[in-house]
Amino acid sequence: MMKNLMNRRILLGVSGGIAAYKSAELIRRLQDLGADVRVVMTRAAQEFITPLTLQALSGNPVHVDLLDPAAEAAMGHIELARWADLIVVAPASADVIARLTLGKGDDLLTTVCLARRCDLVVAPAMNEAMWHNQTTQDNLQVLKQRGIQQIGPASGGQACGDVGMGRMSEPSQLAVEIANCFESGELAGKTVMITAGPTREAIDPVRYISNHSSGKMGYALAQAAVDAGAKVVLVSGPTTLACPEHVERIDVVSAQQMYDACMSRVQDADIVVASAAVADFRPVTVAEQKMKKTGQETMTIEMVKNPDIVASIAALETAPFVVGFAAETNDVIAYAKYKMQRKKLNMIIANDVSDASIGFNTDHNAVTVLTADTQQTLPEASKFQLAQSIVTAISKELTNGPSS
Ligand code: C5P
Repeated sequence: MMKNLMNRRILLGVSGGIAAYKSAELIRRLQDLGADVRVVMTRAAQEFITPLTLQALSGNPVHVDLLDPAAEAAMGHIELARWADLIVVAPASADVIARLTLGKGDDLLTTVCLARRCDLVVAPAMNEAMWHNQTTQDNLQVLKQRGIQQIGPASGGQACGDVGMGRMSEPSQLAVEIANCFESGELAGKTVMITAGPTREAIDPVRYISNHSSGKMGYALAQAAVDAGAKVVLVSGPTTLACPEHVERIDVVSAQQMYDACMSRVQDADIVVASAAVADFRPVTVAEQKMKKTGQETMTIEMVKNPDIVASIAALETAPFVVGFAAETNDVIAYAKYKMQRKKLNMIIANDVSDASIGFNTDHNAVTVLTADTQQTLPEASKFQLAQSIVTAISKELTNGPSS
């Protein structure tokens, strides 16, 4: 499968070492795979390559200072950490590896790494004597135990004239391995059907009733499911989003069309995730011609209930593993649990939509994943990170089954 980083947000941390010049090339290779790249440089890195170069290549301002109020106001260290789907420190000097091991927050890069909610990858690069130093090896061992992935180093000639371990992996190789970090195999061999976006319920040929759903959560789930090795069918209402690669998208407009599309494909699905914001009602009749103003001050449209897609799927005799969403403004968990039982879902993702900064039509969300006997809170993160966590939760549930 062609590697890709479409829509992935990579925070590249550059530390001080001669390999810092390769970071310029790495930005390009990551962008070639579709990634959006932001750069944080340590002070030492700026002795080797200028922020201006990396700014021009990444197309974003380079972040260098923890204590610069202007930079913090534009995008603070917590925001940067939250923005990232993955942090890659390349090159990672012996010093930065030591500081990461100790959990230091003595510059912007280490602070962002401390505040991250995503995975961290380091690409060590240093002189071979520093590489073989027991302290460096011990530090890397600790990082590994904490789940921090290490790419490279390679062996070969070094800038200082030595030959041995310590060269940073080549940027094209690094980019491929970074793309691999998003692939888990958790849903290998499974077929996942995902509903996403709003539906539109026609009133007449030019008017419809709809909602503000962007489809972002569903599309992020489609991407995460592909990364996890699944075959993915995305039944999507109208959105402006690009279809993730290797996803089969079925475009629909109305709730009835979404229902029909889902029902015709559900037999193939092992897992169904219903993230669409389906209109609950549709006009009883759709006017054939554009409706005219009648001179009246009010008008009434009679509405009829749409089929409940997710509940219909869960009610099938051989139902797949069914996951629904519950957007609530109050008593979120209680209402979500009730919805899970009423619709006979295996899992529900509860979403507090009383906070306008997350949820509908935003890039971030914070949710609680509920099953009959588990409850897991996923703190605010990008929809891609949440999608990955939700996929992991689904895969765990499929493996372990409901505990009794
Ligand atoms: O009942 P409510 O709309 O709050 O339930 C939300 C969940 O049900 C979501 O997973 C949504 O995709 C799904 N749903 C559906 N068909 C409907 C209404 C909601 O699949 N007609």
